[in-house]
Amino acid sequence: MKILIAHASRYGNCEEVSKYIAKKLKADVINIEKENPNVENYDLVVFGAGIKIGRITKKSRKFLENDFKNIAIFVTCGEAYRDEKKAISEYIDPIGKKFIAKAAFGPVFDFTKNSKMNFIEKFIVRKINEKEGTPLDYSKYNDLRDWKKIDNFISNLKKVSI
Ligand SMILES: Cc1cc2nc3c(=O)[nH]c(=O)nc-3n(C[C@H](O)[C@H](O)[C@H](O)COP(=O)(O)O)c2cc1C
Repeated sequence: MKILIAHASRYGNCEEVSKYIAKKLKADVINIEKENPNVENYDLVVFGAGIKIGRITKKSRKFLENDFKNIAIFVTCGEAYRDEKKAISEYIDPIGKKFIAKAAFGPVFDFTKNSKMNFIEKFIVRKINEKEGTPLDYSKYNDLRDWKKIDNFISNLKKVSI
């Protein structure tokens, strides 16, 4: 079984999760913002996308128009930290594609000097998280991912990809 983990990350979270999943599944890993893989070569494609203002990237939407033998999806987003099911229904279900597995994983909010967020993006993240009551340190790297959930997703993928 040949597996591809394809990702479209704006700030690096779903890229990092993709590389972790790829290592565990001995899969190829590709950034679809930079490369256009031939999905026909793969029995299973796992697509990972970061959410920004409710959206995946334009290239992600185009990529998902491919005909896949089997496609699974995960998103990384703030909503998943609060309510994973809501995140799936808001960001994955409207895509309207049949996924063999789907999941939403929590966000990373980096407020250090290495952050990929600009000043305005940091401001937006701060406003939303203050409103939602998410505990963040606005001078640090906040990792709100639950790696056990990511490991469970990988276990499910192993079962469906036998
Ligand atoms: C400007 C901005 C807008 C965001 N908008 C949303 C959003 O609409 N919904 C959400 O659940 N998370 C939102 N997030 C949180 C991101 O989804 C989260 O940081 C995630 O880790 C991004 O994944 P990526 O690093 O792979 O792009 C936003 C983050 C930023 C910086």
